[in-house]
Amino acid sequence: MRMERVMHVLMMTWWCLTSHSLASNPVTTSSWRQVTSEDLAVSGYEVWVRGRSKVECIRECNKYSHCTSFVFNVSSRTCYLQPVLDNTSNPAHLGQVYVNTEPECTIAKAPSSNGIIIWSHTLTSLKGTVTCYDDFINTTSDVIVQCNADGSWEREGRCSQRKWTEPPMTMFPMEVPVPVASGWSVCVNGTPTDDDRFTVELLSANDSQPLHADFRFKYNTSTELIFLGYKLDGEYTQGQGFPDFPFVVGQPFHLRVMVADNATFEVYVNDVIRATFPQHPELPPSDITAVNVRNNVTVTRLDLFCTV
Ligand SMILES: *[C@@H]1O[C@H](CO)[C@@H](O)[C@H](O)[C@H]1NC(C)=O
Ligand SMILES: *[C@@H]1O[C@H](CO)[C@@H](O)[C@H](O)[C@H]1NC(C)=O
Ligand SMILES: *[C@@H]1O[C@H](CO)[C@@H](O)[C@H](O)[C@H]1NC(C)=O
Ligand SMILES: *[C@@H]1O[C@H](CO)[C@@H](O)[C@H](O)[C@H]1NC(C)=O
Ligand SMILES: *[C@@H]1O[C@H](CO)[C@@H](O)[C@H](O)[C@H]1NC(C)=O
Ligand SMILES: *[C@@H]1O[C@H](CO)[C@@H](O)[C@H](O)[C@H]1NC(C)=O
Ligand SMILES: *[C@@H]1O[C@H](CO)[C@@H](O)[C@H](O)[C@H]1NC(C)=O
Repeated sequence: MRMERVMHVLMMTWWCLTSHSLASNPVTTSSWRQVTSEDLAVSGYEVWVRGRSKVECIRECNKYSHCTSFVFNVSSRTCYLQPVLDNTSNPAHLGQVYVNTEPECTIAKAPSSNGIIIWSHTLTSLKGTVTCYDDFINTTSDVIVQCNADGSWEREGRCSQRKWTEPPMTMFPMEVPVPVASGWSVCVNGTPTDDDRFTVELLSANDSQPLHADFRFKYNTSTELIFLGYKLDGEYTQGQGFPDFPFVVGQPFHLRVMVADNATFEVYVNDVIRATFPQHPELPPSDITAVNVRNNVTVTRLDLFCTV
């Protein structure tokens, strides 16, 4: 493809020269200039440079942080520099081909990224754009990995796991890697293990909970009640009970808690809405940092960014 680009430039040049004499209208040439090797290097394409020997080619190659291969044409005394040994699109047949066997940056040395990577390898950079696997979520709009000239890797964003399906899950509380906004839902599949209670909490800093959801079979004075409340700076504050209680000990449930558009939380159990509860003005959903599930329940599946 790179070769095609270079060929394209050459073809355009040829076309301009020939069409100039054929066309009746004069051709403006002032906006055209010859492409230099610096242009090609900066845009990442291969570079031809003068070089009387293999050693000079190595010296030229070393001027580019990500040059790892070159072709030395003995008769024309030129070095053709490239980021990787590429035998499909280069004029390798035109000379002696060399490759650095110990390059600092290779795709093989890239850290694992939990996604599919599209690589762009030029003379001046090795950069991968990551598309996260299904069970992972991007923490920045573009997740990028790139290799520095010294072989160290740098990244922008990451693919963070959002969904777990291998029980038993004992890793709570679970960090939410991306700030949540209206429309966000967390889904928990589980089975109550005792007729006491189990609890789902949306946590934020300072020992606060924008939502504290207690599913009570028999707890304190409550019987078969969904109890929703907050925790502000370590203190549980006002709450409300909802009597629509579909849980049975030993029977699996699917729970979804959603941040609704209208400043409420919505609690769905087995796809039926059971409760809505106002968001606390001092505890906006954007402060949510983690999800906790505890007490008498076995969790079999967790999705921190679910839709149903
Ligand atoms: C080109 O490179 C590929 C992969 O390294 C290799 O399998 C193939 O044999 C090479 N072809 C030639 C003509 O060298
Ligand atoms: C070297 O470059 C010349 C001039 O571009 C070309 O004619 C020749 O085929 C190239 N290859 C070798 C092996 O010399
Ligand atoms: C993740 O990628 C999508 C699609 O590119 C984008 O809409 C979303 O904003 C990204 N997430 C973050 C946290 O940047
Ligand atoms: C946590 O409390 C400290 C001290 O009261 C305060 O400065 C900070 O803004 C609080 N953080 C959040 C996220 O509310
Ligand atoms: C038990 O319920 C009573 C009445 O609702 C309440 O005042 C008390 O704080 C509760 N105790 C616990 C441990 O939740
Ligand atoms: C807010 O959402 C709840 C649950 O979907 C709904 O019952 C209520 O009507 C909504 N309120 C407004 C003002 O849209
Ligand atoms: C239910 O939770 C209570 C309090 O955390 C605990 O004492 C009890 O052992 C639990 N029951 C089961 C079956 O795990």
